[in-house]
Amino acid sequence: MAQPQQRPAQGVVRFYNFLSEDTSFLGEVLSGLALPRKALPPKYFYDARGCDLFEQICELPEYYPTRTELAIMREHAAAMAGFLGAGCQLIEFGSGSSRKTRILIEQLQPPLYVPVDIAGEALQAAATGLAQQFPWLNINGVCADYTKALTLPVFVGVPIRRKAVYFPGSTIGNFTPEEAIAFLQLARRMVGAGGALLIGVDLKKEKSVLDAAYDDAAGVTAEFNLNLLARINRELGGDFQLRRFCHRAFYDEDKGRIEMHLESLASQFVHVGGERFDFRQGETILTEISCKYGVDEFRAVAQRAGFAPGETWTDPARLFSVHGMIAV
Ligand code: AVJ
Repeated sequence: MAQPQQRPAQGVVRFYNFLSEDTSFLGEVLSGLALPRKALPPKYFYDARGCDLFEQICELPEYYPTRTELAIMREHAAAMAGFLGAGCQLIEFGSGSSRKTRILIEQLQPPLYVPVDIAGEALQAAATGLAQQFPWLNINGVCADYTKALTLPVFVGVPIRRKAVYFPGSTIGNFTPEEAIAFLQLARRMVGAGGALLIGVDLKKEKSVLDAAYDDAAGVTAEFNLNLLARINRELGGDFQLRRFCHRAFYDEDKGRIEMHLESLASQFVHVGGERFDFRQGETILTEISCKYGVDEFRAVAQRAGFAPGETWTDPARLFSVHGMIAV
């Protein structure tokens, strides 16, 4: 006869949808295209097709960040878990497929994991996978736009010693340094004094390496960028002709950032939501910035948001960094 086994209690998985009506997509597209320098928010890359293309980007030989950050996580997960401590409520922004998080959760064994992502389907799929891998884990999946102020649901009954925000992938780079400070201040408020931040930040490096990472030979990043126009056509009834736009991505050394644009190949006009937008030949839509930092430079940014730098883990080639910090 089998002995009864000591098993931890089964975790509870919940989902919350905090996304306001789809009107925000239309509104942000219309206001972005009306700017003297046209721009669209990168968060709208991630429809089902965009999520799929992003997963492909992560596998590209030129796109070093994902595999480098994964290697840092594998190498230092125990140290990171030690830094964060037991009894953490682990809050993750932009959780996507939660691949890096698995490595952390295995070591940290947090009683509660709160993934927050704008892509609802990817969020549900990732949470379901994690629940299978970690049956003891409580999960509060939150579908939300975390670039706006956000109040997380309270999970009653799970004792928490500390809140920790995990923000991997160098997604912080999508903000300007000023916006990054404002965002980290929100995170600081969310975790409270003594709370923790574990954040992945891509490092400054040679321009040729960065240019290639955002303009790959196979053209996957170009397709990812152009999918934003395809999505506007699909969801908002736009009439962008995708062949009349091309992907432009380059590292601006002065600004310390990648800029990704869609360039109009002709003089043309496009309609979205009953409005007309004129493009000059060569005019671009800025679709994403990806800011790069030095280790000390990023520490200074986080400090200005109320985090005291703790530890920084990097790979041997110093391509990428993961910072552990405590809210003062
Ligand atoms: C998901 C924002 C971290 O900036 O490297 C990859 C997105 N864009 N290739 C990045 C992206 C083009 C990525 N982040």
